[in-house]
Amino acid sequence: MENGVDFRHTAVLHGLDPRGTAPPDVDGPLLTVHRRTTTHFPGLGAVSLAQPVTPAGLGLMHLVADLPEPGSTLRVWVLPTPLAPWRTRVRFAATVSVGAPRGGSPLPESWPPSGSSGGPSSRPSGWARDAFTAAAARAASWVALRASVRIVKQDRPVLDHKRYLAQPRLVPGERTIGLFGHWARQFYPDADGPEAG
Ligand SMILES: [Fe+2]
Repeated sequence: MENGVDFRHTAVLHGLDPRGTAPPDVDGPLLTVHRRTTTHFPGLGAVSLAQPVTPAGLGLMHLVADLPEPGSTLRVWVLPTPLAPWRTRVRFAATVSVGAPRGGSPLPESWPPSGSSGGPSSRPSGWARDAFTAAAARAASWVALRASVRIVKQDRPVLDHKRYLAQPRLVPGERTIGLFGHWARQFYPDADGPEAG
């Protein structure tokens, strides 16, 4: 979970450049970290996206980002389950909702596309738009899921050598990690009690 708020490792290990855009919001069991990351999209190049990340307790983290295509949103859920000391299973879910195609969308001007057999040459019908949108959403969701798994695999060699330090030494720029640790204490049984940070 700490990975989601560790901007420095994201730059070094994953080649991304997350930057905090506002102080984190602490709301009991929820912690929202506001960040913006430049992501490369096929055909669009580098695009800067706001990607707030919200750990909800220690078993769920949610990321949401509005994509460049109007009406399209990426959502990723990270669900770690501790199995034993130093063993954790991490499950991912990812979905991309795609806005209905409009003028300038990647849909062909005629449907079926010219050169295909049969059918009138006209603007896409409702079912064709729905089918295209559903197919695009499925494909984009699959790409997002694969990207999430690829990123966590990059983390694995680091996590395999991680040691627990009750008082880790943080360097300048890691204030969010310190805040995360303080917030996370509320979920441990020997903590003094829930803290809102
Ligand atoms: Fe990571």
